[in-house]
Amino acid sequence: MKLILATLIIGLAATACSTPEPDNHRLSPDGQNLVVFELIDGVPHYSIGRNDESGQVSPVVLPSKLGFELGEGLPALDGNFSIENITKSSFDETWTQVWGEKQNIRNNYNELRVDLVEFTQDPRRLSVVFRVYDDGVGFRYEFPEQENLGEFQIIDELTEFQLAGDHTAWWIGAYQWNRFEYYFQESPLSAIDTVHTPLTMRTNDDLYLSFHEAALVDYSTMTLEHTGNNKLKANLMPWQSGVTVYTAAPMVTPWRTLQISDTPGGLITSYLILNLNEPNKIEDTSWIEPAKYVGIWWEMHLDKSTWGSGDKHGATTENTRRYIDFAAEHGFPHVLVEGWNPGWDGEWYADGVVFDFTEPMPNFDLEGMAQYALDNGVRLMGHHETSASVVHYEAQMHDAFALYERLGVRAVKSGYVGHGREIQWFNDAGEEQREWHHGQYMVRHHQAVVELAAQHKISLNVHEGLKDTGLRRTWPNLMTREVAKGQEYNAWGSAGGNPPSHTVLLPFTRNLAGPFDYTPGVLDLYFDEYRPDNRIKSTLAKELALYVVIYSPLHMAADLPENYARYLDAFQVIKDVPVDWYDTRILDASIGEYITTVRKDRNSDDWYLGSITGDDSRDVSFELDFLDRGATYTAQIYRDGPNADWEEAPYDFVIEEIEVTSADVLDFRIGRSGGVAIRFARQ
Ligand code: NOJ
Repeated sequence: MKLILATLIIGLAATACSTPEPDNHRLSPDGQNLVVFELIDGVPHYSIGRNDESGQVSPVVLPSKLGFELGEGLPALDGNFSIENITKSSFDETWTQVWGEKQNIRNNYNELRVDLVEFTQDPRRLSVVFRVYDDGVGFRYEFPEQENLGEFQIIDELTEFQLAGDHTAWWIGAYQWNRFEYYFQESPLSAIDTVHTPLTMRTNDDLYLSFHEAALVDYSTMTLEHTGNNKLKANLMPWQSGVTVYTAAPMVTPWRTLQISDTPGGLITSYLILNLNEPNKIEDTSWIEPAKYVGIWWEMHLDKSTWGSGDKHGATTENTRRYIDFAAEHGFPHVLVEGWNPGWDGEWYADGVVFDFTEPMPNFDLEGMAQYALDNGVRLMGHHETSASVVHYEAQMHDAFALYERLGVRAVKSGYVGHGREIQWFNDAGEEQREWHHGQYMVRHHQAVVELAAQHKISLNVHEGLKDTGLRRTWPNLMTREVAKGQEYNAWGSAGGNPPSHTVLLPFTRNLAGPFDYTPGVLDLYFDEYRPDNRIKSTLAKELALYVVIYSPLHMAADLPENYARYLDAFQVIKDVPVDWYDTRILDASIGEYITTVRKDRNSDDWYLGSITGDDSRDVSFELDFLDRGATYTAQIYRDGPNADWEEAPYDFVIEEIEVTSADVLDFRIGRSGGVAIRFARQ
């Protein structure tokens, strides 16, 4: 479906009753993306189009409604509007990430601000601000300070996305008991119900789209509901009361985002979500350290040891000392210790009120081990499993973070294990309330934790929490999170382990939101001794390549120290690979099938490559023209051998070293669920 630009500018709808507004559109700096605003019978609508080189515009989002239903009998803010003001501005700035997948990020957009006012007796005001980027569009609502609107409740956000076709979509369903921990599904848009974001799509014209949100602060998580006829509608996770957001003017909503790219890789190297977040609020960031870590973790998932007390207790002083020694020997700055505190005996996942966050178990010398770690040049990584008992945790968290700060801990992994709608609190009337993990109640909680952690110079690695919306730009101590099915499902997941396609879907779905603590690097792929029904469904080389493909500023070397001792050659690349990058590029990718990612180290001239496959094997050809011209590199290659295959020969593995320049091309065969990891060390 192609339209001419001029037609679009007077209303993508071409709706008979639309009111063409002067100057109601805005193009991206490169002229490719177009946003049009219009009032149709007083109802605000927007459209998004994509302009090709010949000046033809394809609609991406056809005219779609904007507005709100309000609570407490207030009339909806969904019509009777006139435009008071339209303002255009532009912005172009390059900012530096404290850490990340790219050091310097250009934030370049054209803005269209539309100030609306009702033509009713007690008119209220609402603005819609669009930022049009070369890689997509973000828009948000702003409620200015005003006479006729103070405190209010949002019952429903009416934002729609009327898509131009029944695109192929990759998604996980919302409102499920296991939060975000589901495998991504592929289906036509018409087959989806209500889904989480990021929601990824491919159009029939091979345009790639990702729907998400940026800067989710004091609001409710947006899910997207398919309301029929290729139309999506914002669906905010409600409080138990039925209200979705309690708020007051002046306020701004999170940004609703649509990233647009001609390639699947372009979605990954789009920094629109970060650009729409506020700049860094932490003045001294010297204590925020991207790093790799090891820890007392995988052994519990294997059931080799336990979180709780008894013969198999993992977090003993002795075992912790062993991990600290291992970390010090191999250069890992943090040692995670789970099961260090009382509360794990019995059904800890049923109710987190059992946890104590300031006292160690009797057989764990917390103070002594914190000091032993520091004496050996490493630090303990703290652990706060709340089991979703948030009120209980909030009562202790000030003391808990203060304790860790005093002990030299710089990063805490937190956890919110618990079913969908089980966050319990009591309202002023003493009535029990149960909230979703992702409603406004929890958005507020997570924000409070990030700010408190920052006061104690502590970075966070949040499991089972909220999806990322780019807040790491504003709070760079919010380093990474899980919020998806990670490595642990390989140990005990009901299907015997994550399917091969999982890791070739994550970069185009979950990872578009932000860093993921997947915990790669399990080199003992079978662990029959502990969990004979499960295994890692990948080759050894793929486990190594994940460090480059999946981005996280805190990456775990998840396997047991004794297993790394068996694979010391392969372990070398896990030790070498950085977690803080100067640049990231995607050489080649197909959603759910394969991906090749290259990243340049932020602290050296080295490049790294990670390439992985899903269900099918693949012959790959890597053109090395991303390397600096004129320079020579030693390519340390960790790759699948000729017969490598996750099922038949996962250990068919080759390590080789060759000299290369940017003029070279490397050809390899990657097996089913296989991989290649390469360090290009500049000579
Ligand atoms: C689930 C987390 O994802 C996992 O990493 C952790 O070990 C357990 N909860 C216990 O906190």
